[in-house]
Amino acid sequence: MTMTHTITNQRNDTSFPVNEGETILDAALRDNRIYPYGCRSGVCGACKCELVSGSVDYGDYEDFALPADEKKQGKVLLCQATALEDVIIDVDEIMTGASIQIKMLPCRVGKLERLAEDVIQLFLTLPKTQEFNFIAGQYIDIILKDGQRRSFSIANLPKNAIDEGLELHIRHVPDGHFTPRVFDSMKERDLLRFEGPFGTYFLQSEVETPIIMVAGGTGFSPVKGLVEQAMQENPKYQIHLFWGARDIQDLYMDRLAREWAEKYSGFTYTPVLSESKSDNWSGETGFVHEAVSRSYEDITGYDVYASGPPIMVDSVRDTLKAKGMNPQRFYFDSFDFAPPA
Ligand code: FES
Repeated sequence: MTMTHTITNQRNDTSFPVNEGETILDAALRDNRIYPYGCRSGVCGACKCELVSGSVDYGDYEDFALPADEKKQGKVLLCQATALEDVIIDVDEIMTGASIQIKMLPCRVGKLERLAEDVIQLFLTLPKTQEFNFIAGQYIDIILKDGQRRSFSIANLPKNAIDEGLELHIRHVPDGHFTPRVFDSMKERDLLRFEGPFGTYFLQSEVETPIIMVAGGTGFSPVKGLVEQAMQENPKYQIHLFWGARDIQDLYMDRLAREWAEKYSGFTYTPVLSESKSDNWSGETGFVHEAVSRSYEDITGYDVYASGPPIMVDSVRDTLKAKGMNPQRFYFDSFDFAPPA
């Protein structure tokens, strides 16, 4: 018989069972409770919360996701920790009883389009007989033949995905396990398998709260979902998007971002190039977090969303904390972390 323990979240006084060996995050998701999380592999730190009482096995994780001093102060990573007895935690529950069920589904490759030299837009056609619900900005794992996984953000809105399929922006990773196949041999109607949706990088701001969004490279893909979601909900959302890339051709949906800026009065777009060789570029240059920093003296009262490489997400966090950002209102999606097979 499997032993179960009880996890209590003191923040909203709720409890749910966890099986022996099951992570607290998995048990919470099984109970339809959504706490903040990202990579599910002990790397990004998004699932960090307070362990109030009870002992846990902390699991495998990277030191920078849970530094020793934070662990000592009673922090724990919910995506890795397993309970050794009844446990009390303190964490913000973003959603309860959500109709977001994590599923393993087959899908077919739909349209494939080259958006830049090293970025492909790939649509995955969902099976007609199965429902797949997600919130704009979440991600899926594509399951490779050997069981390895590759995570990709969904770039379109749930209502559009029904007909278009799930839109992914895939960056070529030389020597990668999966992306060279997407670039070299993948074709329409190929069969794939994925699991999802995962993550809590979705719109969590009220329309009254001004938002700064920062994207690096294909970190634009979840941002596209977030902006479309916001504008669908209320075109009065105030969003300032900074999109950082090496050179102009890497801003692979630059035109779309400019269209948003024309269409929505509350939307501002600042592209930022770090290695531009063009003489015609008169916009922002350098690292994207520096451009944000130059534009804002004080960001108290702003919500910040950042998606892209871990180093960019960390730089945005550090820079904007010094400008008054509330760390509780910092939402991020660190790319390039592959969860284990
Ligand atoms: S470290 Fe737990 S979700 Fe990333």
